[in-house]
Amino acid sequence: MLMKRYSEISVLLLLLFLTAGYSQEKASPAYQENYNKVMQRTQWWRDARFGMFIHFGAYAVPARGEWVKSNERLTTEQYQKYVDAFYPADFDAKKWAKIAKAAGMKYAVLTAKHHDGFCMFDSKLTDYKISTRFDGRDIVREFLDAFRAEGLKVGLYYSLIDWHHPDYPNVGNHPQRGDKEYAKRSFNWDNYLKYMHGQVEELVRDYGRIDIMWFDYSFDEYQGEKWKAKELVAMVRKYQPWIIIDNRLTINEGTRTSGRIVTEYGDFETPEQGIPDEGLKDRYGNPIPWETCLTLNNNWGYHEFDKNWKSPEVIIHSLVNCVSKNGNLLLNVGPDARGNIPDESVRILAEVGKWMQKNGESIYGCGASTLTRPEWGRFTQKGNILYAHWMYPHIGAINIKGAGDKVSGVYMLSTGAELPAEKSWWGNSEAGNFFVNVNSPVYMTFPLPDLTDTVIKIVLK
Ligand code: GLC
Repeated sequence: MLMKRYSEISVLLLLLFLTAGYSQEKASPAYQENYNKVMQRTQWWRDARFGMFIHFGAYAVPARGEWVKSNERLTTEQYQKYVDAFYPADFDAKKWAKIAKAAGMKYAVLTAKHHDGFCMFDSKLTDYKISTRFDGRDIVREFLDAFRAEGLKVGLYYSLIDWHHPDYPNVGNHPQRGDKEYAKRSFNWDNYLKYMHGQVEELVRDYGRIDIMWFDYSFDEYQGEKWKAKELVAMVRKYQPWIIIDNRLTINEGTRTSGRIVTEYGDFETPEQGIPDEGLKDRYGNPIPWETCLTLNNNWGYHEFDKNWKSPEVIIHSLVNCVSKNGNLLLNVGPDARGNIPDESVRILAEVGKWMQKNGESIYGCGASTLTRPEWGRFTQKGNILYAHWMYPHIGAINIKGAGDKVSGVYMLSTGAELPAEKSWWGNSEAGNFFVNVNSPVYMTFPLPDLTDTVIKIVLK
């Protein structure tokens, strides 16, 4: 009986061992080589950590978000009145660039064409574009010039989907989905691909150095080679060898944390409106580059009545959350039809900027720490410098558990002042403990010096 039990257990153990071995697949040399290239290309971007997304287009006129044409199933003829009314007289890319820079952002991505197909650049391949109705001005070019001048890296969003092009079928969320008459038209897919590849070529060939290409998006069978993705990426890299490309030439896997692979189609993952529970890894256990994109209210494109603004605190906490898991944050603004970033967005970004000015050192070039996440906040780390983000109410001293004997200095990041610290506090001298904020009566008490996130810099030996 006992023997039988033993053999059952050993079979179980063997099975466990085998499955564990199986799930830790080994990457092929070709995969590893591509992975290494991806990590190299994205190095600056992973250091930058914080960028601005800009959704700007004719949809700012109806002011019900950039999906209005699809949501309300408008025909191109019905949508035309918005295109006609779109004249962003106040548009001033220099002003936008200053707002991004002051917020502590290091790069920006502008919609060159969104799903509605209306082009914000002077494409030679269509008349459905801003330049012919805005005194010849090319919004993409003005954006690129202004943001580069502020020392920011620049990226362009380009919609793979096109709700205007006659050869783009009424599939997915097309405004005329389910319209049987529309479906009877003949759609020449190759013709659409030629147009789409041609426009991307214009963007990467005629506008100087582009740092990021942000394609959006794949669904059902509309993914990968349906877009002729290999050819597209090869062409983009021919003109811009160091450009980095998002992963949406394949289907976006949201905040899923495991089992991903890095393809030759994309350099970074794009969880949308959410932050993964932990840093993203490929199925071989390598950390992979990722960026959460996030709206400031509930819409990407301008919405007149959406006042659900996130507080500066939520934004700062989200940014720290991303960085503590090796991720980036791409924070959206949706300028209005006159070309202004909404006042509310400007105000929030300015607050974020104030915090960044004092605490940016704990964000740029930083990533996950090996220490476990503490209950009072989060850690970020850069080499031997650990940043303790004290974000939540917590009484008494905070324990930098695990830092123990390794600490050589403790400072308030925002002032540079040394802070009192002890390895043992109130009889708790477990190995690895390191208490900051000791030595009564000079505790930091509530409110903390920075209500949102008080950053303590810990220099490790
Ligand atoms: C979605 C939406 C789009 C938005 C994008 C930003 O894919 O279709 O409107 O531009 O997400 O990530």
